[in-house]
Amino acid sequence: MSTVEPFDTVDLITTKRDKGRLSTAQISWLVDAYTRGYVADEQMSAMAMAILLNGMDRAEVHDLTMAMIATGERMSFEGLSRKTADKHSTGGVGDKITLPLAPLVASFGVAVPQLSGRGLGHTGGTLDKLESIPGWRAALSNEEMRSQLDSIGAVICAAGSGLAPADKKLYALRDITGTVESIPLIASSIMSKKIAEGTSVLVLDVKFGSGAFMKTQERARELAETMVALGADAGVATSALLTNMNVPLGLAIGNANEVRESVEVLAGGGPADVVELTLALAREMLAASGQPDADVEKALSGGRAMDTWRAMIKAQDGDPDAPLPVAKETRDVVADRDGVLEKQDALAFGIAAWRLGAGRARKEDPVQHAAGIDLRAKPGDSVKKGQVLFTLSADEPARFDRALEALEGAYSIAEAGAKVAVAPLIADRVTV
Ligand code: URA
Repeated sequence: MSTVEPFDTVDLITTKRDKGRLSTAQISWLVDAYTRGYVADEQMSAMAMAILLNGMDRAEVHDLTMAMIATGERMSFEGLSRKTADKHSTGGVGDKITLPLAPLVASFGVAVPQLSGRGLGHTGGTLDKLESIPGWRAALSNEEMRSQLDSIGAVICAAGSGLAPADKKLYALRDITGTVESIPLIASSIMSKKIAEGTSVLVLDVKFGSGAFMKTQERARELAETMVALGADAGVATSALLTNMNVPLGLAIGNANEVRESVEVLAGGGPADVVELTLALAREMLAASGQPDADVEKALSGGRAMDTWRAMIKAQDGDPDAPLPVAKETRDVVADRDGVLEKQDALAFGIAAWRLGAGRARKEDPVQHAAGIDLRAKPGDSVKKGQVLFTLSADEPARFDRALEALEGAYSIAEAGAKVAVAPLIADRVTV
């Protein structure tokens, strides 16, 4: 029996191509018809490009988000003994913040469900990082996840395929059709998964700069405002921080080395920028969960967050005391003169780490957990000729040359004594 479809796909594409707007019924049909295979990939790529070029208004973005949620299951944390708070980062280089943040917030009795992904391209994936811990398991059933949230509070695990399947299909298509960097498409993609996940509080880390999807602070603000409004409309208390991603976050870029750095933060040490962002996001999440005065610094320095980290890793069969993998080969890059490090381009360092084996070129490729880059100096630091600026690690030495090619022109040293302006990490906060 054939069903009569209520709209013509080509009509909808040409409406958007000609800068028109799509109705709620049209968007809802389009997303459903694409998910069930009636609308072809070619047609959806044309639509995605029309949206990228001509945009969508607030109501259309809302309709698109709701339509994507409707293609899958909605989780609910009702009945859990704790409130839930979630964080999402739009992705960057060296961004390991979820690792110390989830146990830190959970150590205050809030449940933190972090449904995470794997990296593709130059941005790393949280699951890839955690999989460098021997035994650690990313795949949990819904029951395991709930029970861990109830007992420990923090769960970082793989997002099942049940949440917003339309997004999964559309994201894969955007990835290969040059249509990722569209605010309506990014906002609906992220928020459909977060709303479907059922959290009551959501804090967004919206990054801007060379290593981020949004290259300028203005575009990041627009994305943040769109997502905060979507969250508020869906009853999720949502706020966002706009953070600088022109320079890698922290000193470690990779997988195992990012876990190592996160553990340092949980032990009360670690690089100042990683600590600053972890504390700021934790304060946002806890304030929105009714704990505006939570002493997050003390929870890091006093070991309380570390206890939750260890419990979280063990609950997912990981051994928090096992040595992390170490690369077979390393190569140091040194300063060619005395001076002040002034530039360290996030995108180039992300690509270099990826070429060393820390990331994957295709979804099905494995990552090499010990591959990556350890920075030994950050912009604003004085350096001496011959001093190590960063160390590359890889299992196959053949990878060094291509990584070094990506780093050509990516860092520079100003004259000794030069005043190098270092931009603030947290540029602004966005709420409804
Ligand atoms: N992350 C997502 O989940 N979706 C996007 O579109 C971009 C980043």
